[in-house]
Amino acid sequence: MLMSFSLMALLVPVIGFAGFAGSAAEGTLTKQPFGNTTDGHAVELYTLKNGTMTVKVMTYGAIITSIEVPDKAGKIGEVTLGFDTLEGYLKGHPYFGSTVGRVGNRIAKGKFSLNGKEYTLATNNGPNALHGGLKGFDKVIWKAEDVSGPDGPAVRMTYVSKDGEEGYPGTLTTKVTFRVAAHHDLQIDYEATTDADTPINLTNHTYFNLSGPNSGTILHHELMLAADRYTPTDATLIPTGEIAPVEGTPLDFRKPKTIGAHIQQIKADPAGYDHNFVLNAQSERLPIMAHVYDPQSGRELIMRTTEPGVQFYTGNFLDGSVVGKGGAYKQYGAFCLEAQHFPDSINHANFPSAVLKPGQVYKQTTSYQFATR
Ligand code: BGC
Repeated sequence: MLMSFSLMALLVPVIGFAGFAGSAAEGTLTKQPFGNTTDGHAVELYTLKNGTMTVKVMTYGAIITSIEVPDKAGKIGEVTLGFDTLEGYLKGHPYFGSTVGRVGNRIAKGKFSLNGKEYTLATNNGPNALHGGLKGFDKVIWKAEDVSGPDGPAVRMTYVSKDGEEGYPGTLTTKVTFRVAAHHDLQIDYEATTDADTPINLTNHTYFNLSGPNSGTILHHELMLAADRYTPTDATLIPTGEIAPVEGTPLDFRKPKTIGAHIQQIKADPAGYDHNFVLNAQSERLPIMAHVYDPQSGRELIMRTTEPGVQFYTGNFLDGSVVGKGGAYKQYGAFCLEAQHFPDSINHANFPSAVLKPGQVYKQTTSYQFATR
């Protein structure tokens, strides 16, 4: 009797998931219209809910518009920067929640050569190319499909980037799957194939504030980054090619410390973190690479990734001019952990290669898991 009762308890959630569509026991995926782009394309917003975690992703830019999780008192609240409506995103913003591609971060002077051929991209960040170009993956319409299953509600976004788009060679087909797994775990899986050699560096650019958007700065959040080294840059944030130790610099987060502890020692204008950290372990087993704790809300964020690097950015350029959920977003109002290959990899032979060839499948997985203490 006891035996069959506990077996039942074990089986119920699984059975619930088998009948996922409609009657889901542990997770749901719903969609709703989210308005139209200025050129008339309809945008859909997908809501993925599993237990007390809810994530919203839209087909414009495959952008995460919202992540809600409980705080230490069990109160569910928003932990990302963004807008309640599509208009906010269409007006322009610094990549809130965005899927960034074809090449995230910078390419020096927008130039690279591949197989003996020179390529020139638009320069949209001082002298350099940033985050995929004038119309990167964050500004295109993705096709969504429901791929929910026993691991949780999930939506897969697909985008085909044509040969020559934004100056890049090869037709690149990209699939990004967002899944909300058990235990407040947002898993993002990227896959891409190409018909010609191309640089590629996909990432997600969510801005987190574990106390909520516009709840103050993130300078009191405590960060651990499993990175012994980083890639120093010139004044335009292009790597010099050196791979330097974090030891003895404000970039040493190997033991947890508050983000604000040494931020003013960074010689940059504006001061703040905007650095690529070289992660200690690169593995498909998804080691924990970053841990953030906010004593105010009690929320924790754990980042796992297959990628060799992470761009840690502290919203240095937020200056109050963008008004989103919660109000005007000010400097240090959020942090980003953009798991990726190193910036300007295409121009540095000593960095892990970020070139995809026909016949290969590009894969990257990053997860953002939340907890409280
Ligand atoms: C870059 C920053 C930039 C931010 C928003 C980060 O990935 O490294 O320099 O301001 O994205 O575009």
